[in-house]
Amino acid sequence: MINKINIILIGSLMFSLTVKGQQLFDKKNTMEEELYRPNFHFTPKKGWMNDPNGMFFKDGYYHLYFQHYPDGNTWGPMHWGHAISTDMISWKEMPIALYPDEKGYIFSGSSVVDVNNSSGFSKNGIEPIVAMFTYHDMKEEKAGKSNYQSQAIAYSLDEGKTFIKYSENPVIKNPGIKDFRDPKIVWDPIHNQWLMVLAAGQKIMFYSSSNLKEWNLESDFGDGIGAHGGVWECPDLFPMAVQGTDEIKWVLFVSINPGGPNGGSATQYFVGDFDGTHFKLDPSFEKDLSNSEHKSIWIDYGRDNYAGVTWANIPDTNGRKLFMGWMSNWDYSQKVPTFKWRSAMTVARSVELRKIENSYKLVSQPVKELSNYRSVKYKKDAIAIKRTEKIIDSKAIDLSSTEINFKISDLKNSGFNFKLSNKQGDTLIFGYDNTNNNFFIDRRKSGKIDYSENFANRVSFAKRTSLNPNLEGKIILDKTSIELFFDNGETVMTEIFFPRSPFSELIIEPKSKEIILDNLELHQLNINQTKLK
Ligand code: FRU
Repeated sequence: MINKINIILIGSLMFSLTVKGQQLFDKKNTMEEELYRPNFHFTPKKGWMNDPNGMFFKDGYYHLYFQHYPDGNTWGPMHWGHAISTDMISWKEMPIALYPDEKGYIFSGSSVVDVNNSSGFSKNGIEPIVAMFTYHDMKEEKAGKSNYQSQAIAYSLDEGKTFIKYSENPVIKNPGIKDFRDPKIVWDPIHNQWLMVLAAGQKIMFYSSSNLKEWNLESDFGDGIGAHGGVWECPDLFPMAVQGTDEIKWVLFVSINPGGPNGGSATQYFVGDFDGTHFKLDPSFEKDLSNSEHKSIWIDYGRDNYAGVTWANIPDTNGRKLFMGWMSNWDYSQKVPTFKWRSAMTVARSVELRKIENSYKLVSQPVKELSNYRSVKYKKDAIAIKRTEKIIDSKAIDLSSTEINFKISDLKNSGFNFKLSNKQGDTLIFGYDNTNNNFFIDRRKSGKIDYSENFANRVSFAKRTSLNPNLEGKIILDKTSIELFFDNGETVMTEIFFPRSPFSELIIEPKSKEIILDNLELHQLNINQTKLK
C-alpha cells in the first residue's frame, strides 16, 4: 500500500517536474522567438542553417535552398532546406529538398532552369530544374583521404520541391584536391555554353558543358590574386552590363574563410573579362586591388555576410542580378545565443556594376520589394547637429523592423556616430570616422557577447572609397541585424547582435564639429516571417 502511494507520489512528482520542465522549455522558446527571431530575415523554423544554395526564379517564385541540419543547432549532416517567395522578403519554408545519402552530405551548390532540355531530364514537356552540389563523404574524410569531395547533379520536375539524383553521379570526380566544392552553374549567353565555377583549394576552376552532365575543365584563376588568408569557397561568375552602358564585364565572387577584412568569413569580388575559357582581371581592377587597404575588394565589409551568390533564371524584362548571403561568420556562428534555430540570411539585394572614377565597383542595395512593407513614416527636415541628438525611440517606431535613409552633407567637416541603445545599456554604434576615412560598426557592448571571444573583440571598419563630399546611407534594422549601405551601396557592412532587450532609442552625435543632416527618413517595415509560417 505504502509502496503504491510512494509510486503514485513519485509518479506525480515526476509528472509535474516534466510539466514544469516543458513549461520552462516552452517559455524559453517563446522568449527566444520574441527576442531574437528576425522579423523579416529568413530563418529556418528549427535547426542549423548556413550557405544559401541553388537559388533560381521560375513561374513567379523565387526559390531559396540552404545548407541545413534539421536535427541539431550546430553544423551536421548537410541537407538542402527549401523556401519560396514571390518577392524575396516574405518566405515560406518548404519540405527539405535534398537529403544526404550513402555517397555523402549534400554541400553547397546551385540550380539552373534547363529551358532547352539540354540535359535530357525533361519528361512530358516539363522544364527540368538541374541542381549541382558537392558530395562530402565523411567516411573517406575520416579515413584520411583527400578526395572526399566530388560534384553531383540532381533534377526536379515538380518546381523544385523534390529532386531525383542522377544515376551516374558523381559527374566530376575529385582529382586529389582536399577542398574541391561549391559548383555554381551559369548560362553563358555570349559563348553559348553552360559554365561552372568551382572552388579548389585557393583557386577557382572554370568548367564548361553543353548538357550539364559532362564537364570540361577550361582554366583556373586565383594564384597570388586577392585575399588568401583561408580556403576559397562558394564562387559565382556572371556577365554584367556596366550600368548605363553597353559594356559587358564579368564579375567573379569568391568567399574566403578565414581571411575576411574584419576577421573570419567574407566574400571578395573580382571584375574582368571572360573569353569563354579564361577569366582575366581588368587592369583597372588589378590596380584597385593593389591599392586596397583590405587585402582585397569585398562585397560586404561587415562580419556577417558570407557564401552569398546570385539567383539563376531571372527574366530579362526584370534584368536584375539578385544576391543573398548567409548572415553569420564561421568564427562564432555555432555559438550565437539562439537554440531552436541558428542563423538568418541577409536581406535580398540587387547588385549592379558601376564605373566610378575609372574603377569598376559592385554596388548593392536591398531589393526594391522591401519598400512595399513600409508603414509608419517619420521625416526630419535638414538640421545642423552640434551635439548628441535623439532621433527617435521605440514609442514612435519599432526599431527592430526599420529602414532609415539619411543624407549628410560636407562630410569633411566631421564624422558621426549613430547609437542604438536599450534600458540595460546595451549599445550598437556605427557611423563614419572622418579622421581615418572609415565607416565602422562597434558591437563590443551590444548585449550578449560572451559565447565567443571572436564575436565582439574589435570594431569592424571599411575604408570609404567615394570622393563625394556628401554621404547618402541606408540602414536596415531587424531584431538581431544591421545592414548598412553607404554611398548608394558602394560600401556595405552587415553585422548581427543580440541585445538583452530590444533597442529602444536611436541617437546621432557629431564626432568633432557639427554635421548637417540634410535628410532623414524612417520607415517602419511591417513584415513578420513567424506569422507566415
Ligand atoms: C561555406 C561552406 C561551403 C560548404 C558548406 C558546407 O560556408 O564551408 O564551402 O559547401 O559550407 O556546409
